[in-house]
Order: sequence, then structure tokens, then C-alpha cells
Amino acid sequence: MHRGPKVVETRDNLQAAYAAALRGRALPLAFVDVDAFDHNLARLLLPASLHNKKVRLATKSLRCPALIERAVQHSAGLIHGLMTFTARETLHWAERGVQDLLLGYPLGGPHDAQLLAQANQLTHAAAMIDAAQHVAWLAAAARAAHVKIPVWLDLDMGWRPIGRTHIGVRRSPLRTADDVVALARRVAEEPSLQLRGLMGYEAHVAGLPDDGRLAAWQNPFKRWIKARSWPDIVARRGQAVAALRAGGLLPPDADWSCNGGGSGSVDRTAQDPSVTEITIGSGILVGHLFDGYRGLDLQPSLHFALAVTRTPSPGIATCGGGGWIASGSSGSDRLPMPVWPVGSQLLGIEGAGEVQTPVVLPAGAPAQIGDPVVFRPAKSGELAEIFSEYVLFSEGALGAHVATYRGLGWSAWA
Ligand SMILES: Cc1ncc(COP(=O)(O)O)c(C=O)c1O
Repeated sequence: MHRGPKVVETRDNLQAAYAAALRGRALPLAFVDVDAFDHNLARLLLPASLHNKKVRLATKSLRCPALIERAVQHSAGLIHGLMTFTARETLHWAERGVQDLLLGYPLGGPHDAQLLAQANQLTHAAAMIDAAQHVAWLAAAARAAHVKIPVWLDLDMGWRPIGRTHIGVRRSPLRTADDVVALARRVAEEPSLQLRGLMGYEAHVAGLPDDGRLAAWQNPFKRWIKARSWPDIVARRGQAVAALRAGGLLPPDADWSCNGGGSGSVDRTAQDPSVTEITIGSGILVGHLFDGYRGLDLQPSLHFALAVTRTPSPGIATCGGGGWIASGSSGSDRLPMPVWPVGSQLLGIEGAGEVQTPVVLPAGAPAQIGDPVVFRPAKSGELAEIFSEYVLFSEGALGAHVATYRGLGWSAWA
């Protein structure tokens, strides 16, 4: 039986413990509070275990094999596979012996298809498709490598309440059950490919914090979007699966999956009868953009510490490095957030810079050259492209060092 989340110490105590553990360490240093990590993982798995769904882990939101493997090991068997984000990374995981891989994003060319074919010589590594071009690349690569490549269809879940209004991200052109069936028929013509799943990722629900402290006035509107679009999500995912089944295009149930959701929608997605597995990732490390989901009591896990290198005027500590801005629609929410000393703030005019990041300290906070200032990154995965290793923090102390994708030379797009 799966255990419920345990209560983690109060944040202020924890941040003081981080600062104490960091003193005397070579900085910058990125660390993961594994007690918070385990708490978040347990919380995110709970709805899946209650509703008998499986879970897939989004590797892009961790990018650290030791942490990914920790999550799988601590999931009581619920995490049965990984959702990878590049073809090369998928091959790395195949070489590491992972049995169930799904490259969750489409191919950029025949070379990606060849990498996936190679991965299928070692394990089960499915491709996500939404166009006939993807089918052609995959079929050619599968034939050349003498493998069968499992294929998933990506159903766009953006909400279109009136006319051309599109609420959600711009993903697949497959919007309806008919679109999905037409591409599935094209897959069925290729003996080297095999349809194994459908994904409908409801980004406008899973990726939309609705209890945020910044711009809190928007929260009711965001909740309204989530509530109003939900019936459309459930209906279109269900219709797509039913149409594939009616067309005789589905393999037996045991070989078929329907994936939905993300960390931000676990409670809802687990209740969708068409969904067999839920994706989770960001909510385990909790980049600060992942704060503010109603009903999700997640604890910040991923942090980094910079050294104060200058004190240009009283009340201001300038740290070395720190300009690690998250991807996405640009805005000040993409900046790292200082969390220690408690009450520190970035300077609006300078932000987080390539070589230095000044912070305005709260009254009375000491700032000596060499002291640590602790930050949280905006997103959960991208810091692993900056730091070669993460240090694991548990019960008041920094311990093991674990390699990130960067440290292993797995950097995402290289
Ligand atoms: C296809 C897909 N599924 C699920 C997710 C949710 O992942 P996370 O839980 O890391 O936010 C994402 C995130 O971008 C995604 O692209």
C-alpha cells in the first residue's frame, strides 16, 4: 500500500538549515532536498494509486539519472516508464536498460528516427507522431534496423470555446477523433510500425498555477478555464480512443496506453476513465513556477546557492553568477527567486546576471563576502544544463553528489 505524504519541516527552519550546511562549501552549488523530493513524489503518486492508473516520469523535468532512478524506486511500482524529450537521450536510457520509453515529442528528421530504431534494438522505445512525415521517417528507419517501432499519436488538447480562440499550447494538428483515425490508418499500412498509445496533454490545466501569489487576481479566471475546459478534454480523449477501437486500430488492452496530464493536473487526470497513465515531473523538484497549484501541497526541493562576492552598499549583497533564466514566454517570473536570507529580493534594474546577481537583503540580515545566498530556479529541469552535479540534502546535511545530464555529457540538444 502506498504511504501518504509526510509533513516536512517549516520552510524558515529548513532554509536556515540549508544556509548552515552550505557554509564553507565551494559555491555555486546546486542541491536537492531529498526529503521534500520524496514528499512531493508521494503526493503526486497518490491519485494514480487511488484510481488504478500507471505513472510515467517526464525526464525533462529532472535531467538527473540518480534522481529519476530514485523516483522510480520510491514509486512502489507505479512509475512504469519514462517520457523522454530527445531521441539521443532516449537512446542513453535504452543503453542504461530502461524497459519502457516514450519519446514524448516529435522527430526533427530521419536522424532522430534512426536513433529511435537503435533504441528499439535494445528495448521498447516509442515515438510520438502527429504527421505523415513522422510515419515515413520512422518506417524507413525501422526497416533499415530490422526492428518494429512502437508509435503513439499526439492529440491536441487546446480548448477552443468560441471560433478560432485557442486556449492552450500549440502542439499537434490532430484535434478530432477523425484526425487520429486517419493517421492511425497510415501507421497500420507500415508493417515496421505498431500503434501503442495516444497522448492528450492538457497543458492549459496541468501547466497553469491557479493559486499563485503573484498576480493573484488572475487565479479565479484560471480556475474557471480549468473547470470549463475539463469536459471538452475528457470528451475528446474518450472519443479518440473509442474511434480507434471502433476502427479496429487498437492493439489488445495490455499493449495499449492513453496518457494524460502532468504534475499540475494529477487529481483531475486520474479521474478520466480513458486515461491509463499520468505523466509527472516538475512537481517533484518544484521550480518556483510550480508553486501555487490549488490542493497540491508541494515543497521546494531544487535550489542553488551563490557566494556573496561583493557588498557594494549597505543592505545589498552581490553574488557571483546566477543568471539562469528559465525558458518560455519571457517575464520576471522566469528569474531565479532568492529564498535565503529570508526576505531577500532581486534588484529590478539588474535581475539575475551572467557574472553577478545583486540581492537586496532584509533589514538586519548579515552579508559577509563568502556567505551563501540560496535561490530557487524558476523551472525544475533546466538547471541540470548548468550544473554538472547536484548535492543531496537530507536531515540537515549535504551528502552525496550525483551527476546531472550536463555532468554525463547528455546535454539536451547537443
Ligand atoms: C507531453 C507532456 N506531458 C506532460 C508534461 C508535464 O510534465 P511536468 O509534470 O513535468 O510538468 C509535459 C510538460 O511539459 C509535457 O510536455
